[in-house]
Amino acid sequence: MTSGKPDYLGFGLGLRPQHYREILEGAKIDWFEILSENYMIEGGQPLYMLDQICERYPVVMHGVSLSIASTAPLDLDYLAALKKLAQRVNPKWISDHLCWTGVHDVNLHDLLPIPYTQEALDHVVERIGQAQDVLGRRLTLENVSSYITFGQSEMSEWEFVSEVANRADCWLLFDVNNVYVSAFNHGFSTDEFLHGVPRDRVVQFHVAGHSHEESHIIDTHDHPVCPEVWDFYRQAVTHFGPVSTMIERDDNIPPLAELVDELDHARSIAAEMFGGKRIAAAE
Ligand SMILES: [Fe+2]
Repeated sequence: MTSGKPDYLGFGLGLRPQHYREILEGAKIDWFEILSENYMIEGGQPLYMLDQICERYPVVMHGVSLSIASTAPLDLDYLAALKKLAQRVNPKWISDHLCWTGVHDVNLHDLLPIPYTQEALDHVVERIGQAQDVLGRRLTLENVSSYITFGQSEMSEWEFVSEVANRADCWLLFDVNNVYVSAFNHGFSTDEFLHGVPRDRVVQFHVAGHSHEESHIIDTHDHPVCPEVWDFYRQAVTHFGPVSTMIERDDNIPPLAELVDELDHARSIAAEMFGGKRIAAAE
């Protein structure tokens, strides 16, 4: 298994096909996150573009299909394909979500929450170990946003996330927006979550927009980041220090320049926190 915490990368974006050409012409972006499943294919233009982007930028892989918390057996074909893509991309890390996406051969195409019980914890930790053994490297797992909780839960989400990270010896992707969304939906404190997860495990931030429906928030990733989430990002940077940060936009994809502007806002917040200096990617 690879060892050592991954390097700080600076400020990145999710790679979206609409932006391929502009990126290859040269864009002020430190790194890219790819959606793994979009490139787990045999050939064609996406892989051709990806190869060129990997030559010029650091890349991380982000998946949505690992279903690490499901009770269905781990999909070894999926893991093999993920490993094959990693051999091509040489990603700085591979992430997916701390969730389940289906069972009994049914994929619900959603990132579903877990009951935070000791039984679920043991189950998830064991499966992360299996997946890490296949991949030959540590996984990075992301906290999801949620709309329901389970009456059976025996601990908070942040206690569960912490136990997972420490026991499975994996990294964490701290999704700032997801914490904000879930805190609003379930009435917990963002501060408690922030201070409840191990700092040394966090290797990446996601920052994203959402849809506020007054009584609840839906994690749509189709809006610019709102001021409240930027405020929480400021707290997260203050608490965790420099962490590779990415704007996550999955719908209503704007021109690249708009996302670069949002990314610059993240840079300026981080710079405020660290002595007024521009926070650049590590050399
Ligand atoms: Fe995310």
